[in-house]
Amino acid sequence: MDTVITRLDAADFRDRLPEALGVYVDAMGYPRQVIRSRAAAWMEHSRRDGWSGVAAFETPRRRLLGPSRGPLVAICYGYRGAPGQWWYEQVSQGLRSRDLTLPEDYVELTELHVAPSHQGRGIGTQLLRTFLADRPEGSVLLSTPEVQEENNGAWRLYRSLGFSDVLRSHRFEGDARPFAVLSRSLPLPDQER
Ligand SMILES: CC(C)(COP(=O)(O)OP(=O)(O)OC[C@H]1O[C@@H](n2cnc3c(N)ncnc32)[C@H](O)[C@@H]1OP(=O)(O)O)[C@@H](O)C(=O)NCCC(=O)NCCS
Repeated sequence: MDTVITRLDAADFRDRLPEALGVYVDAMGYPRQVIRSRAAAWMEHSRRDGWSGVAAFETPRRRLLGPSRGPLVAICYGYRGAPGQWWYEQVSQGLRSRDLTLPEDYVELTELHVAPSHQGRGIGTQLLRTFLADRPEGSVLLSTPEVQEENNGAWRLYRSLGFSDVLRSHRFEGDARPFAVLSRSLPLPDQER
């Protein structure tokens, strides 16, 4: 099945929220109840300064008669990082003990998920590259769960795009898992995948 990558405006994203959250829980292996518990946070994120999003849709079988987009199969969004945001404060706390601070001008990659049935075909890479292509900030930061030997699609994707370590084994409040915080300067050179 072919897919099409499209930028979403915030209103479009909110219309597609249940579908986007469905992709998120499936990709992360979370129970379906998580859809309801994350909905308010994702909604609130879409109203933040500098929010932008990109999604992948299946191309519908009957384009002339039916809708121009099929089901949503991947979602990527983020916004400008700023003091007072939960993630900013949590990461700043981790950096403080190392006498470091967050850059003043960065975009937080908040979510990037591809439906399991569509993973490993370059959609995640394309989504992230499209998301970053028109960001005005000087760098992008994200957090991702630590995994043994960085051995999953997320780590391979981030490393292939040149992301480097900011914090390792960082603990976010309310989550028992260790996370890595990674960053990469922007813009991405065109020739990188
Ligand atoms: C992480 C995720 C978004 C990646 O999306 P994807 O569409 O599967 O990824 P892509 O196919 O574009 O790229 C990743 C793959 O391409 C390969 N790849 C990417 N760039 C490459 C390069 N320059 N050279 C060689 N291989 C490369 C990677 O090895 C990786 O392969 P793998 O998935 O078999 O390990 C997706 O796997 C996912 O949703 N995972 C679960 C949720 C998650 O972890 N989200 C991120 C939380 S921070």
